[in-house]
Amino acid sequence: MSDTLSPPAAAPGYYQRHIFFCLNDRPNGENSCAHHNAQAGFDRCKAQVKAAGLAGAGKVRVNKAGCLDRCAAGPVAVVYPEGIWYTFVDDADIDEIVESHLKNGKIVERLVPPAELGR
Ligand code: FES
Repeated sequence: MSDTLSPPAAAPGYYQRHIFFCLNDRPNGENSCAHHNAQAGFDRCKAQVKAAGLAGAGKVRVNKAGCLDRCAAGPVAVVYPEGIWYTFVDDADIDEIVESHLKNGKIVERLVPPAELGR
């Protein structure tokens, strides 16, 4: 058995792009995305996607997620099918992700966290 994963077979997706925001909140005070305005980023993205007419089947879906195990880069979101991770600090960052990546498929390089940042 190989220790590497095979690429998935090509199949049409229900959504063209799907973005997941970690909203995990560790009540014990440990670092988590909820302590870094993750909810505000999620809310802004959801509103902007809807306002731009991008929401729905065949287009874009914005979803909540629990811990994505990249807490050190938080707050984080990840866009599929590309598998591109983002970190963000304000509305302008979210707006750029929506306009550039979710709408036009162009990665926002300045918001991609370093690959080595995990939990
Ligand atoms: S708490 Fe957000 S990635 Fe872990």
